[in-house]
Amino acid sequence: TRSQEKAQALKMRKGGKRIACLTAYDYPSARLLDEAGVDLLLVGDSLGMVVLGYPDTTHVTMSHMLHHVEAVARGCSNALIVGDLPIHSYDTAEMALANAKRLVAAGADAVKLEGGVRQFDKVKAIVDAGIPVFGHMGMLPQRVLEEGGYKKKGKSEAEYEAILEGCRALEDAGVFAIVLESVVAATAERLTEELEVPTIGIGCGEQTCDGEVAVISDLVGGYPWFVPPFAKPQADISTEVTKAVRWYVDQV
Ligand code: KIV
Ligand code: NA
Repeated sequence: TRSQEKAQALKMRKGGKRIACLTAYDYPSARLLDEAGVDLLLVGDSLGMVVLGYPDTTHVTMSHMLHHVEAVARGCSNALIVGDLPIHSYDTAEMALANAKRLVAAGADAVKLEGGVRQFDKVKAIVDAGIPVFGHMGMLPQRVLEEGGYKKKGKSEAEYEAILEGCRALEDAGVFAIVLESVVAATAERLTEELEVPTIGIGCGEQTCDGEVAVISDLVGGYPWFVPPFAKPQADISTEVTKAVRWYVDQV
């Protein structure tokens, strides 16, 4: 399929032209980002925090995801669209495949889920059905409550080995790329060298992976109440909105 071709084209960029990924949750941002040349638009379950106002991603449901994947799909014609499988939507391989198909029907080219070894069967079931899968290792936000916070990963040799083992399981199951989240820079570099599929970093330092992903609100200053330490805002749209609205209120 066209989706498989697009995912394969990104996979082939391993070690070559770096891959630029951003999250998008609605039609206007999808259209602006796609037209600006982003390679991959992730309808991430960060949606729960930066759009829906929940404290973390554990509140996000399939119906939230479907609603926003549909909007992004209407605005995007070039980038690969990836839809996150939210928490508990892939508790079994059967559920993983059924929900991946729903995201694709809503307009996603590919899906993403969190974790390594224990997700092997789920990833394989989805890939075998012809749907590209994006892996996600390192800090796994859907487990933030069990972990008691957002912690840096890959600090010790044992953690490096554990992440590598998970990434290898994902490669064996057929993912086209893997997100590395909040992995210490030196470990992210080692993993990037070791793995056959592209690594896409967030919170892993600069130029350590084969590509990067950022949350759009972090890039444009759209969510002033929480800014991750690794964010590099290039605009301040929340201040612009406040200014425009104050002008409007005064003028009325
Ligand atoms: O939901 C999301 O935005 C993500 C990225 C941070 C990788 O999963
Ligand atoms: Na996510």
